[in-house]
Amino acid sequence: MRMVDLIHQKKLGNALSEEEIGFMIRGFTEGDIPDYQMAAFCMAVFFKGMEDREIASLTSAMARSGDLLDLSGISGKVVDKHSTGGVGDKTTLIVAPLVAAAGVPVAKMSGRGLGNTGGTIDKLQAIEGFQVELTIPQFIHQVNNIQLALAGQTGNLAPADKKMYALRDVTDTVNSIPLIASSVMSKKIASGADGIVLDVKVGSGAFMKSIGEAKRLAEQMVAIGKNLGRETVALITDMNQPLGYEIGNANEVKEAIDVLRGRNVEDLRTLSITLAAHMTVIAGRFSNTDQACEELERILDSGLAFDAFLRFVKAQGGDAGMVENPRLLPQARYHRAIIAPKAGYIQAMDTDKIGLAAMMSGAGRKKKEDSIDYAAGITLNKKLGDWVDQNEPLCVLHSNAEHVPDAEKALQEAFTVSAEAVPKTQLIYDVVT
Ligand code: URA
Repeated sequence: MRMVDLIHQKKLGNALSEEEIGFMIRGFTEGDIPDYQMAAFCMAVFFKGMEDREIASLTSAMARSGDLLDLSGISGKVVDKHSTGGVGDKTTLIVAPLVAAAGVPVAKMSGRGLGNTGGTIDKLQAIEGFQVELTIPQFIHQVNNIQLALAGQTGNLAPADKKMYALRDVTDTVNSIPLIASSVMSKKIASGADGIVLDVKVGSGAFMKSIGEAKRLAEQMVAIGKNLGRETVALITDMNQPLGYEIGNANEVKEAIDVLRGRNVEDLRTLSITLAAHMTVIAGRFSNTDQACEELERILDSGLAFDAFLRFVKAQGGDAGMVENPRLLPQARYHRAIIAPKAGYIQAMDTDKIGLAAMMSGAGRKKKEDSIDYAAGITLNKKLGDWVDQNEPLCVLHSNAEHVPDAEKALQEAFTVSAEAVPKTQLIYDVVT
């Protein structure tokens, strides 16, 4: 078999066999197939697409290119959750202890953020002492013990995807639904979950800018899950504004703790309960999502999910005092309010720009090697549809540098204020099963 023939077939729009895809991914991972040929293949896929069966083969081959986590030592059905990435998305910090408190094991491998703010792992490391490097036996033991463990992704999880993503990034082939779907799902499959709940974000702060596009990606990922024997559900959810009010790391942990203690941050609480409901239904704990939502609200309000979070932080070496008293979490030295130039309703937010401003404040990484300032970030004072008076703060930028002019400018530009009242935005657009 020759890679050039496979590129040729894909260039003509023909489907490749499982054997051909296996040959290509094995060869690429082992270094026998060079980057330029894989880059050409990705570009051919970008223009010609792939069939469901091919995408499942590609996903499976990428998942098998490295370690496959064996979670059979965990009693109960393990259901994972994945978000395609959004600004202020701290749902995992709420969903994971909530699902665990409902009696369903949560064994989650999480990546670090390369986007605008840290990933879940980075956010948790805002808690002094929190350890993300667990050995597999420690990871499984902890899940069996307290129903919940969250670890950093091992270096050898779907290495083919890692190599391929780096190429896609520099050849403008990231934005291809078959390639995104197989990339995301290969890591979920390699992480060993029995079921998967996906949160596909759509809007000004998401990869997918239209509901149609988001739905196509969701359908593709659900089809892959089914093809590979993992029950998969995808929610299509709004990212035309950040989720909740906090964007950063320590401040996002604080907001998640507030919700775990019963504060009603409406969009964050609703989405967290809905994601947890789908996870617990897949796990067989509840028979439908209505029943699950009712039970999960009760669990959240009773403080059991907060207790589960506290146990989890202690089990991974984190400072429980910071969870009990979030004011002890890292705090920035400077807080600069961004003022509304005129009165009106918040009509739109450029959520990508808000995320970028958070990154510029120190809350995210520009490059993999960069470190994160856990105290940096943004607190929104207003959400879409809210009224703002002239000179009232739209948001507050937290940083350890006295001035971050680029971030301040981006935030000034990110809000559109209009005299017209704005209808309430929808949070969950669709559920794909
Ligand atoms: N996230 C991934 O893991 N892969 C992609 O291709 C895009 C987003």
